[in-house]
Amino acid sequence: MVGIGELIVYLHQDFLGVGLGTAMMRRCLEFARGQKFRRIGLTVIAENKNAIRVYEKVGFKREGNRSEAYRGEDGRYYDAVEMGIVFS
Ligand SMILES: CC(C)(COP(=O)(O)OP(=O)(O)OC[C@H]1O[C@@H](n2cnc3c(N)ncnc32)[C@H](O)[C@@H]1OP(=O)(O)O)[C@@H](O)C(=O)NCCC(=O)NCCS
Repeated sequence: MVGIGELIVYLHQDFLGVGLGTAMMRRCLEFARGQKFRRIGLTVIAENKNAIRVYEKVGFKREGNRSEAYRGEDGRYYDAVEMGIVFS
């Protein structure tokens, strides 16, 4: 397969912060590379430092910000960060 993909990851709250997200992201990227994907992209809320840390750790780059792009359940508007990884 050749193409691009978008990635969304949500872990159950009982499993946060023990390395599972990092391991899953690495496995997904390994799969995508094996399938000859050209690029994987994602969008993350700018305040989600934990997620951004994980994405950067596995190789995603910040590609740009979108101001007030997401309306949370609390009624607030949050900035979003676009990130991507391009396989060579
Ligand atoms: C985002 C998510 C997938 C990350 O997976 P995880 O298993 O919790 O993350 P890990 O345990 O693999 O790694 C967490 C990293 O963030 C770091 N971190 C934690 N809180 C942080 C903070 N406030 N600022 C910066 N880094 C932080 C940890 O130190 C760790 O990095 P390290 O391994 O270099 O020490 C998971 O937390 C999740 O599903 N969250 C809820 C839903 C969500 O936010 N999804 C993302 C939507 S875009």
